[in-house]
Amino acid sequence: MRTELAPGARAGRAAAVLAAALTAAALAPGVGAAEEGAGSAESAGKPGADWESWRADNEVSDMASLQRGARNFVSYCLGCHSLKYERWSRLGQDLEIPGRLLQADLLPPGDQPTEYIQTSMPAADAQNWFGKTPPDLALMARARGGDYLYQLFKTYYVDPTRPTGANNLRLPNIAMPHVLSELEGLKRAVFRDVVRHGEGGTEIHEQVFDHFEQIAPGRLGAAEYDGFVRDTVNFLDYVGEPTQTARRALGIWVVLFLLVFSWLAWLVKREYWKDVH
Ligand code: HEC
Repeated sequence: MRTELAPGARAGRAAAVLAAALTAAALAPGVGAAEEGAGSAESAGKPGADWESWRADNEVSDMASLQRGARNFVSYCLGCHSLKYERWSRLGQDLEIPGRLLQADLLPPGDQPTEYIQTSMPAADAQNWFGKTPPDLALMARARGGDYLYQLFKTYYVDPTRPTGANNLRLPNIAMPHVLSELEGLKRAVFRDVVRHGEGGTEIHEQVFDHFEQIAPGRLGAAEYDGFVRDTVNFLDYVGEPTQTARRALGIWVVLFLLVFSWLAWLVKREYWKDVH
């Protein structure tokens, strides 16, 4: 056990997080307005201009990171999302979390370690509140890829026209509130007006994302927030294929065995052919 699991990590947290995200709009008047001018050459080096090239760079063999990711998931995601193919006990085993800690810090009260990781949010309520049921995340990392998830949680911006007060570059008009806004703080997206010439010389104005502006600090610094998101993505990557840590560890032994076996086979071959030559 290399990392301690934060106490009080409970599904109920999501409600508070949601409330914080919903107030985002009220905090930032006039946000979301488009700005004119700036050519694309100028956008180089601006914060967020290169968001599509951001990589999660997570490492599934990093046990401490997986443990932090599990804690993040329980604190910030379990309120709405399930991991329907993963049992608590399996998670404890794979992530080397002792039963006592699993029970105290991760398991929602009343849940048994043998149960699957299920959110307590009723699907019908979720449908009412968000207009969409939060999808199960067990296979999400495999479906979307780690980089997608990393970009998703780093490209939220304040948008008062959305019911949740937040919008997203990776998934425009996302129904999920910015549940990590208290950690990241609030950003505003600055768009620039790009004019294209359509048929017959008609001008077509397009709003193209230019860069982010931090408008309120969060509890974490920028690098810390990146780490938080990376750990969370890492955890979802693990959940997508729980055997991959074991598989990779086993792979090393398989290769070693093959090397030793080749050496033995070569010795035998040399012995057999000794008299022929
Ligand atoms: C307040 C409820 C709520 C919480 C808490 C929440 N989500 Fe969501 N999530 C949603 C909803 C609703 C959607 C559906 C969004 C949509 O399709 O527009 C969603 C969708 C997603 C998606 C799918 C995006 C896609 O491409 O379709 C991912 C991935 C995701 N959530 C990850 C997370 C993670 C990781 C956390 C914890 C850090 C989290 N969510 C916390 C409500 C929530």
